[in-house]
Amino acid sequence: MPESPRKLLVTSALPYANGEIHLGHLVEYIQTDIWVRFQRLVGNHCVYVCASDAHGTPIMIKAEQEGVSPEALIDAVSERHQRDFAEFMIRFDNFHSTHSVENREIVSRIYEALKAGGHIERRTITQAYDEQRGMFLPDRFVRGTCPSCGAADQYGDSCEVCGATYAPTDLKDPVSILSGTRPAARDSEHLFFRLSDFAELLEEWLGGDRIHPSLAAKLREWFRSGLQDWDISRDAPYFGFPIPGETDKYFYVWLDAPVGYMASFRHLCEREPELDFDAWWRPGSDTELHHFIGKDIAYFHALFWPAVLAGSGYRTPTAVHVHGFLTINGQKMSKSRGTFITARRYLDHLHPEYLRYYYAAKLGPGVDDIDLSLDDFVARVNADLVGKVVNIASRCAGFIHRVADGRLSDELESPDLQAEFIAAADTIAAAYEAREFSRAMRTVMTLADRANQYIDTHKPWVMAKTPGNEAAVAAVCSQGLNLFRLIVLYLKPVLPRLAADAEHFLGVTPMHWETRHAPLLGHEIAKFKPLLQRVTAEQVAGLVEAESSAN
Ligand code: MSP
Ligand code: ZN
Repeated sequence: MPESPRKLLVTSALPYANGEIHLGHLVEYIQTDIWVRFQRLVGNHCVYVCASDAHGTPIMIKAEQEGVSPEALIDAVSERHQRDFAEFMIRFDNFHSTHSVENREIVSRIYEALKAGGHIERRTITQAYDEQRGMFLPDRFVRGTCPSCGAADQYGDSCEVCGATYAPTDLKDPVSILSGTRPAARDSEHLFFRLSDFAELLEEWLGGDRIHPSLAAKLREWFRSGLQDWDISRDAPYFGFPIPGETDKYFYVWLDAPVGYMASFRHLCEREPELDFDAWWRPGSDTELHHFIGKDIAYFHALFWPAVLAGSGYRTPTAVHVHGFLTINGQKMSKSRGTFITARRYLDHLHPEYLRYYYAAKLGPGVDDIDLSLDDFVARVNADLVGKVVNIASRCAGFIHRVADGRLSDELESPDLQAEFIAAADTIAAAYEAREFSRAMRTVMTLADRANQYIDTHKPWVMAKTPGNEAAVAAVCSQGLNLFRLIVLYLKPVLPRLAADAEHFLGVTPMHWETRHAPLLGHEIAKFKPLLQRVTAEQVAGLVEAESSAN
């Protein structure tokens, strides 16, 4: 139990507002949500914010293709994202947008501060320009032959065949994917953030246990090869915020995207007056700032972001928690294999808590990729959740109603076993805190095995055959339900709905971590209803087939 509650601001990466949420994204949002729920369960003050990442060329182009304004596109996508998150029980305190007044104000202020500090520089660069469309092209909007190995039809920034990286102007036979014409090389003045001014700060930040050691090592390597200044401006036409004091120049989406964390929090502060924006964001704040992200965006969060914050007078992150990528059946998600599974598609077929549990059972603190093997998913969910956890309650509840009128015994049948279960709480809490969810799940499942063994040993169904044994049967089953209650408490961050249903069945108010110390004695319980159904292989097969036939 924390002596005084910690104050934590937690974020998940802001999803781009031009595509659907899929099972890959959900690794992150589920991981973060479990951690946030755990923090609250143990009594910490935890605020969880997110937003749509609304700016940039791809969103501008997509809106154009759909014949709608970018604002209309991002609003519609944001609404779908929020519905998906809510159904997966991912519970943000606020979900905002980077295309918001708060964000515009904060990013402009940050820019002015960086400029006043001498950290912004002007430089002319040469870029690919689509003359037909009248716009500069992001690297990914140019394709052509790899200058290194000669592979055809490669992206403008790197070759998928040989792995070479280069500038789009280096491609042989470059083509704009927007018009099919050959891009011209055109000069333009850009604004750069002098990242190298922050070398010392970053060196220290990376040394401080703020990011997984394997990533810190990788980032330091990058670091030693010299910190490149960062291009933070884009020329019109662009969907973003105009840069104050400039003509036809916009902030690059990756400058204002992480600022969206602050904007979402600021927006929340308006609704919740006890939250003080400055107190949470000033250097030396007694609050913690935790970002959860995928490994593909670690550079942005572990190099640029701390430097931007420090350079503009704000606090830096307490930690950046980086997870790996999701594979399905050992391979990258793929539309043609039918494994590009959207959140919506999943929800059409399966209960969200199955996935929450499966991810928890797989997630560790590191950056390793995690695999969703569909056979393993079925086996794991059925064996652990249905076979072990829910089974305890379904084996005990009926007897309590039959022999004791639905009332639990006045004393614990095995105080030692109860004590053992209570003692496990510290190990489990430590595992949650360290984001070692798979370890937490293993520990809880060991407890579930112990509880089932306890019932197997006493065999209440045999005891009940002998008249006069009612009190003894009730005692064993009351003990079983007390163990069940602790297991559900320990799983509550992962399975909030199962926990709520179990609380209803046990006739108790919402449980907190401290609840574990007080057993349920002489207490009336409700009729038992199955808390979770088995997953079938057919449901899972439907998930994949349905998606592939939709292509
Ligand atoms: N908009 C940026 C983040 C800006 S944060 C200031 C972005 N958006 S995203 O929609 O592409 O991804 C959102 C998060 O989901 C990222 O942390 C990303 O790493 C994660 N994932 C996207 N696909 C994923 C998998 N296949 N597997 C695991 N995580 C994945 O990046
Ligand atoms: Zn190549």
